[in-house]
Amino acid sequence: MTKQKQIYKCNICGNVVEVLHTGVGELVCCNEPMELMAAKNREEGTEKHLPVKEELPAESCAVRDGFKIKIGEEEHPMEEGHYIEWIEINTVEGRSGKKFLQPGEKPEVDFHTRKEVASARAYCNVHGLWEMKWS
Ligand SMILES: [Fe+2]
Repeated sequence: MTKQKQIYKCNICGNVVEVLHTGVGELVCCNEPMELMAAKNREEGTEKHLPVKEELPAESCAVRDGFKIKIGEEEHPMEEGHYIEWIEINTVEGRSGKKFLQPGEKPEVDFHTRKEVASARAYCNVHGLWEMKWS
């Protein structure tokens, strides 16, 4: 049985999919079961991948304007063969936002929300799925 928001990868063709609605069936691609990608939550290796959260200053009111999510503590490479494909935030009340990135862009995204952020995830095309939880 799948779970909402799980990420699966086909190790043959490279398809990556996210579960939006759970079901009992096994996810299959290229005639093989897809691999469930476990989100890593501790740094390993030389590059940093864990999302870092910074408050965006308020422009027109006293409340913050949102959050900048950066990957990671030291900026992750954004080269053709190794880059952060997307960054996602999830708020405590169930909102989700994702931005897809390209090589050459900075590995950071501004998310404009006044809601509390529960977690952020990032997907590296070489090192897979990473997640930081704040609540
Ligand atoms: Fe990486």
